[in-house]
Amino acid sequence: MPDNNFYITTPIYYVNDKPHIGHAYTTVLADTLARYHRLLGDDTYFLTGTDEHGQKVQKAADQRHMTPQEQCDTTVVRFQELWKKLEITNDDFIRTTEPRHKKIVQAILQDLFDRGQIYKAEYEGHYCVPCERFFTAKDLAEGNPCPDCGRPMDTILEANYFFKMGQYQQWLIDYIKDNPDFIQPPFRANETLGFLRQPLGDLCVSRPKSRLAWGIELPFDPDYVCYVWFDALVNYISAVGYLSDDAKFQKRWPASYHLIGKDILTTHSVYWPTMLKAMGLPMPKTIFAHGWWLIGSSKMSKSVGNVVNPMDLAERYGVDAFRYFLIAEMTLGQDTSFTEESFVARYNTELANDLGNLLNRVLKFALSHGGAAIPSPTAPYGDEEKELQKHVLDAVTEMRSAVLSMQLNRGLEAVMAAVRAGNRYIERRAPWKLAKEGKADELATVIYSAAEALRILSGLLLPVMPEKAKTMRMSLGFAETEAATADIAELGQWGKLVPGTKIVDPGVLFPRIDTKAAAAVVPPPETKPVPAAPPVEGVALIGVDDFFKAKLKTAKVLEAEKVPKADKLLRLQIDLGAERRQIVAGIALFYKPEEVVGKTIVVVSNLKPALIRGLESNGMLLAAKDDKQLRLITVDGDLPPGLSVG
Ligand code: MSP
Repeated sequence: MPDNNFYITTPIYYVNDKPHIGHAYTTVLADTLARYHRLLGDDTYFLTGTDEHGQKVQKAADQRHMTPQEQCDTTVVRFQELWKKLEITNDDFIRTTEPRHKKIVQAILQDLFDRGQIYKAEYEGHYCVPCERFFTAKDLAEGNPCPDCGRPMDTILEANYFFKMGQYQQWLIDYIKDNPDFIQPPFRANETLGFLRQPLGDLCVSRPKSRLAWGIELPFDPDYVCYVWFDALVNYISAVGYLSDDAKFQKRWPASYHLIGKDILTTHSVYWPTMLKAMGLPMPKTIFAHGWWLIGSSKMSKSVGNVVNPMDLAERYGVDAFRYFLIAEMTLGQDTSFTEESFVARYNTELANDLGNLLNRVLKFALSHGGAAIPSPTAPYGDEEKELQKHVLDAVTEMRSAVLSMQLNRGLEAVMAAVRAGNRYIERRAPWKLAKEGKADELATVIYSAAEALRILSGLLLPVMPEKAKTMRMSLGFAETEAATADIAELGQWGKLVPGTKIVDPGVLFPRIDTKAAAAVVPPPETKPVPAAPPVEGVALIGVDDFFKAKLKTAKVLEAEKVPKADKLLRLQIDLGAERRQIVAGIALFYKPEEVVGKTIVVVSNLKPALIRGLESNGMLLAAKDDKQLRLITVDGDLPPGLSVG
C-alpha cells in the first residue's frame, strides 16, 4: 500500500428518515478532511453511503405504506441531493442494497460459517407481539415488561446464528492498549476498555425472517437474514474491492479514518475490529468519534420538534457559511450547542467583517491604484510586511498540524488570526495615505503583500468553503480550475502571486446578516415539547407514536355467522393477508351475516385475544356508530387484505 493513501469514511446513514444536521456534520467534516488531504498531496479516497436494511427501515416503510425498497429508493435521494448541495466530494456512495455489497456480505458470512466462526444456537428471549421486538433477558427490568411499551411479553425460544466475538476479548483489549491511535479521542478508547471489563458475549448475527425479512439472506440458511450492523460495517471494505478488486483493496485498506458520532462507538470499536480479526484483515488506523450537536442544550428529537434541517440553513445563509460554521464551532470529540444566534454572530464577525473586509480593501486599492492588476512589490519589505508574512505562513503550518491532529477548529482560528493581522497591516500602512502622498512604490508593496496574504489564506480556506474561497482566488486573477485547488507547497511560499495578473471584483462575498430578520430556520434553543392543544370536547390528545401502537390492517371477511343466544354478535372469519383469524363483533343488529361477507374492512390486528361468550376473538373491527346506527369502516377501492392502515 502506498504511504500516502488516505481513505476516510462516514457512517452509512439509515434511510428511515431525511437527513438532519448531525448527518450533515459528519459528512461535511469528512469532506473537509478529504479536501485537506488532497491539498497535502495524499492519494485520497472518500466513502459515504446509506444503510438500507433492518427494522428501522422496514418500520418506516410500513408507516408510509411502501415496500422497504421503495422507502430506500425515495429516501436515498434526499441524502444524495443534500451532499450535492453541500459540495461533498465523495469518491463513492455505497448503498447496502446494492448487489456489489450484498454478495460480499454473503461471502464473508459463508466463510466465517465454514470456518466455525459462526454457529447456530437456541436461546431464550422475550418477544413483544405489538412492538414486534425481541429482547434478551439482560435488556429487561424485573417482571420482563416490554422496554418499549411496558406490556407483558411472551417468552420464546429462538434459534439464531452467532459470531464468536467473545473469543477476541483479550486480543482486543491488548490491541487498543498497544495502539493509542486506534480509537480517538483517547477518552473514547477508555470508554471502550471500560465496556470490555464485562465479559464479551458472542454476537447474534441473524434475524429469523418470520420476525424481520428485510435484510441480506444468510447464504447457509434461507430462513434468516443478516443482522443489520454486521451487514452495514462491511460497507467499509465491500466498497473498496474486498473479494472483488484485489488491487483496489490492497491500495485502500486499511482505512485511515472511520469518522463516527459517539452514539455508534461500540459497534465500531468492538464489533468491527473483532469481525476484521476473524476475517484475517488489518485494523483501520483510527476510529474517530466526534460529539453531538445539541440544540441549545437538548438532544435533537423529532418529538420535541427541534430537528435542524441542514438544507434550510444552507439555503438561507449559503452552503459555505454553513460548512464554515460547522467546522469552526465544534471542538472535535466534544458535544457542541447549535444556536442560530451563534451562527449569525460568527458569520457577521469572522466572515462578513474580518475576511470580507480584507478582500474588499485589497481589491479596492488594486482596482483604483494598481491598474486593476496585482502590482509589483517595488519598495523593499519592512518590519510590517515581515510580520504579516510570518502570521500568514504560521497559519499554513498550524493548519497542517491541525488537520493531522484532528483539530480543525484550531486551524481555522489560526487562519482567522492571520486574516485579522492582514486587516491590522492595512490599517497601519494606511494605503489611502500613501496614495495621497504619492508614495507609489510603497503603495504597490502594501497592495501586493495584502493580496499575497489573501492568496495563501483563501487557499487554506478552500477545503472548508470551496465556493467562496475559489471566488476569492479568482478575484486575485486565478483561472477557475486553478482557483478551485491549491497545494501545500504553493501555500507555504511567499511571493507566488504574479505581478500584472488582472484582478476582478466579485462584489460582496459575505453580506451582513440582519440579526433582527434572522433566527427563523432553527427552532429556538431549549425548545420544550410543544404544549398540547386544548383538548377537543374533553378528549385526551395522543402523540402519533401512541396512535401507531395500534396496528390497523385491512382484512377481508371470508365467513360470518350469528352467535347463538347473543343478539348482537356475529362470528367472522377474516383473511389478514398472511393469516386467517376469527373475530367476534357486536354488529348483528345492523348487519346480516351475508351482508358482511366479501367486504374489505379495517381491524386492529394487535389486540390481545379476548373470550367473548366463550369464543376467542383475535382483533377488533372498526365501525362508526351512535345509539341508532352502525356502519363498518371499509376501504375505498379494491385493496388486498393485510395492508397497514394509518
Ligand atoms: N446506520 C448506522 C451507522 C452504520 S455505519 C456502519 C447509523 N446511522 S444514522 O443514520 O443513525 O447516523 C448516525 C450518525 O449520524 C452518527 O454516528 C453521527 O455521525 C451522525 N449524527 C446523528 N446525530 C448527530 C448529532 N446530533 N450530532 C452530530 N452527529 C450526529 O447509526
